[in-house]
Amino acid sequence: MKNLTLIILFVLCLSCKDTPRNRDTSQVKDDVHEHHSEKQSKPGAANEHMHRSSVEDLVERFESPERDAYQKPQKVLEFLGDIQGQTIMDIGAGSGYFSVKLAERGATVIAADVDDEFQGFLQDRIEKNSIENIEIRKIPYDSPNLKEEEVDMVLIVNTYHHIENRPEYFAQVRKGIKPKGALIVIDFFKSEIPVGPPLDHKLPIDVVVSELKKAGYTSFDVNVDLLPYQYIIKAR
Ligand SMILES: C[S@@+](CC[C@H](N)C(=O)[O-])C[C@H]1O[C@@H](n2cnc3c(N)ncnc32)[C@H](O)[C@@H]1O
Repeated sequence: MKNLTLIILFVLCLSCKDTPRNRDTSQVKDDVHEHHSEKQSKPGAANEHMHRSSVEDLVERFESPERDAYQKPQKVLEFLGDIQGQTIMDIGAGSGYFSVKLAERGATVIAADVDDEFQGFLQDRIEKNSIENIEIRKIPYDSPNLKEEEVDMVLIVNTYHHIENRPEYFAQVRKGIKPKGALIVIDFFKSEIPVGPPLDHKLPIDVVVSELKKAGYTSFDVNVDLLPYQYIIKAR
């Protein structure tokens, strides 16, 4: 009987050996990561990577003074020129970093995103600040859901590399832009810089230009001097 009790205790001890409490903390941390990204599973490696952080943390990062320092939004707005009265779609609007600034400059903004949490945050921001010229538009991962020649400009900041099947996607974007309008892509240089996603998620300028050529764009104005870590491509 005593032997049987000892055997049962031994088996119980073996079965509880691999509970999180008994594992080292790095392994528990990995589990939290995996569980989180599984729960948040989004199409594309860039989205999987981004959603390892909570939307709350992402919003804090996107709207931080550190981001302002390298993003230089005033310079970007100057680069865009007079946008008063223009209709602009901001694809991957996120927290509304650029959508709000464009609206403040007198544009009518369509803040497009795939993510309900970001859109909820932006909706609150719009209501709190009584902003009337931003429409929030939930779009699917594979289409900007633009009507033909609906907008004067499409702006896509730090989001181009999140899109899959880009030549097809940006051909749809092109149809949504008026003949005199433009697509503006702002994204990270493909080099080891202190900001942005991992190197293998970043896209070099020549790849973006060649994809956009496939999508039907024929004229490109590439700026590499305005911002320290990002290029700006104006495509028509
Ligand atoms: C890195 S954030 C950039 C947010 C914002 N543009 C900024 O500069 O602060 C990427 C954004 O793109 C959105 N996104 C990801 N895949 C997308 C897709 N296929 N179509 C539209 N938006 C997408 C994400 O939900 C997220 O809001």
